[in-house]
Amino acid sequence: MSFIMHFVALLAVVLLAQSATAACNGNNALCSRKYSNVTQVGAHDSAFVGVLLPDNQYVSAADVLNLGVRFLQAQTHNLGGTIEMCHTSCIELDAGSLAAYLAPIKAWLDSNPDEVVTLLLTNQDAIPVSDFATVFAAVGLDSYAFSPTSALTMDEWPTLQSMISAGTRLVTFMDYHADTSKVPYILDEFAYFFETPYDTTDSSFPECSLDRPAGASPDGRMYIVNHFLDLDIFGILIPDRLAAPRTNSVSSIIAQADLCYQAWGRVPNFILLDWINQGQPLAAQNELNGL
Ligand SMILES: *[C@@H]1O[C@H](CO)[C@@H](O)[C@H](O)[C@H]1NC(C)=O
Repeated sequence: MSFIMHFVALLAVVLLAQSATAACNGNNALCSRKYSNVTQVGAHDSAFVGVLLPDNQYVSAADVLNLGVRFLQAQTHNLGGTIEMCHTSCIELDAGSLAAYLAPIKAWLDSNPDEVVTLLLTNQDAIPVSDFATVFAAVGLDSYAFSPTSALTMDEWPTLQSMISAGTRLVTFMDYHADTSKVPYILDEFAYFFETPYDTTDSSFPECSLDRPAGASPDGRMYIVNHFLDLDIFGILIPDRLAAPRTNSVSSIIAQADLCYQAWGRVPNFILLDWINQGQPLAAQNELNGL
């Protein structure tokens, strides 16, 4: 009897501990925050997983989600009519189809109902956005898509909890060639965000300027900080994997976020990292969220 009582008490403690921390992207305190008022670290070039020179990550997109990261960026390219996850070109590196990339993300959302995931796809080859919608529908991801009826101001974004309650827990942005009149849930990245420069080779990440969209106003835009380090090898930039523990340390991430705060008066919304399972990105994220 007393064993059972102890067991029940223990179970209650475990469940309480989980509910205190688990929901809403890792922390209950984020449930009531607007999507536009949460800082999230993310995996840059999340499809390029491995040990080749152009790879950016050690772990797959699903495993990045398993780490607790909720933002995934990925490059897409047109390979003879199929949308492929290629690095700059499909000759340099082809990490498979968009469908194969998205399927594990759909499965992950199925088994993690209290999480909001954000996807940022690049579309350098100007593939028609309706072709992306075809793949999203084939994979079943369209059912989770957050689809605002009109463009949202920063204040108009819903809270994480209301997105979770509505079941619209996948937010998708595209850098170029989005068209919400054709696909309402693939949002125009640069209508909502500005980005700091990328291809940084200075490990001190000494700035937080507005790089894209060139000449745009920061007002009313969330912003994405590119905090990944490249190594310049005779003019060719490759992701600097050996520096990752330092690049992704709390002190390196917070130091750049501080510069950003000085420049823009608010903390970054998203911080993109290579080798995201290195360093302590989630500790930095918690600090920036005041948790
Ligand atoms: C969220 O709001 C707080 C308080 O207004 C602000 O200090 C912080 O910079 C905001 N965070 C983001 C990511 O917008």
